[in-house]
Amino acid sequence: MTETTQSTDTEQAAESAQTSDIEMQRSGQPLEVTAGETREKTRDEWTDYEFEGDAKFAVEDLDVYYGDDHALKGVSMDIPENSVTALIGPSGCGKSTFLRCLNRMNDRIKAASVDGTVELDGEGIYQDGINLVELRKRVGMVFQSPNPFPKSIRDNISYGPRKHGDLETGFLANLLGRSDDEEVEELVERSLTQAALWDEVKDRLDDNALGLSGGQQQRLCIARALATEPDVLLMDEPASALDPIATSKIEDLVHDLSEQYTVVIVTHNMQQAARISDQTAVFLTGGELVEYGDTEQVFEDPQSQRVEDYISGKFG
Ligand SMILES: Nc1ncnc2c1ncn2[C@@H]1O[C@H](COP(=O)(O)OP(=O)(O)OP(=O)(O)O)[C@@H](O)[C@H]1O
Ligand SMILES: [Mg+2]
Repeated sequence: MTETTQSTDTEQAAESAQTSDIEMQRSGQPLEVTAGETREKTRDEWTDYEFEGDAKFAVEDLDVYYGDDHALKGVSMDIPENSVTALIGPSGCGKSTFLRCLNRMNDRIKAASVDGTVELDGEGIYQDGINLVELRKRVGMVFQSPNPFPKSIRDNISYGPRKHGDLETGFLANLLGRSDDEEVEELVERSLTQAALWDEVKDRLDDNALGLSGGQQQRLCIARALATEPDVLLMDEPASALDPIATSKIEDLVHDLSEQYTVVIVTHNMQQAARISDQTAVFLTGGELVEYGDTEQVFEDPQSQRVEDYISGKFG
C-alpha cells in the first residue's frame, strides 16, 4: 500500500500545503500567500539547515511504523554535536518515537519497524553487526519520570560502569595500586557533580535513592546516564513532572552539559525549548518534521504557517 492511498484527508491537505514557491512558479500560480493559503518552507530548504561544527547524527528518510500506523514520515535532519536540540510538537506527533530511533530503543517495541538511515559520527546505527550495548552506552537516555533503581545513591551511579566492565576491580585495580572503592568514589563524585547533585547528597551516598525528592531523583538519573561516559544524552520531557525550581535546575544543567555532550530533548514546554536549545525541530500531527532551524528563528520567524499557528497556540 502506498503512502498516498494510506493518507487521510487531513494529511493530504497538509501535504498539498507544502507546495513551494518554486513549484508555484512552475505551475504558473501567483506567489503571494492569500487568506486561507499556507506557505511552507520547502523540505529542501530546512533539510539544508546549516550549523557550525560537525553533525553528531545524520538522519535520512526515517520512517517508523507501529503495525500499520505510520508514526514518522520521511524525517531527515542532521543534529549538530555539543549543542542542545529541542523536539517540540503536539501529543502523538512522534517526538518520543524519533528520540528512541537515535539509540535503537524502538527495537524493544515488537510492533515497531524502522526504515531509513541514522548515522552516529558517520556510522549507520541500523546496519548489521552494531553492538547495541555499546550504542546505548554512547547514547544515554533520561525518561519523563525519574526511575532510580531501588538501591543506594552510590550503587545507582556505579551500576552501569560495573555492568559494562569499566570499573577496574579486583586484580586489575590491585595491579594499578588502587582499590575498587577508590574507583567508585571518583566516579560517584564526578557524575553527581556533573549532574549538580553532589552537594545535596554527598553525606548520604548509602541512602536509598528512592528517598530523594523527585527533582533530585531526576538529577540522579542524569548522573547515572553520565556515569557511563556517553557522547549523547537523549531526554524525553525530563522536567515535566517537576516543580519550577527543580525544572530550572534541570534547565541549567542541560545548558551546562551541552558544552561537552550532544543533548536532544523533547519538551511540551515551548518557553523551555526557547530558553535551553540551540536548534528546534517542530513535528506536527501525522509524524512529519515540518520545520527545523535555529531556535530563535523558529520561534521568532517560523517559515511555516502551521508552525506559526502551533507556536502561537492556535492549534496543537
Ligand atoms: N509502543 C507503541 N505501540 C504502538 N503505537 C505507538 C507506540 N508508541 C507510540 N505509538 C504511536 O505512535 C505515534 C507517535 O507516538 P509518540 O509517543 O512518539 O508521540 P509523542 O510526540 O512523543 O507524544 P507525547 O507528546 O504525547 O509524548 C502515536 O500515534 C502513538 O499512538
Ligand atoms: Mg512522547
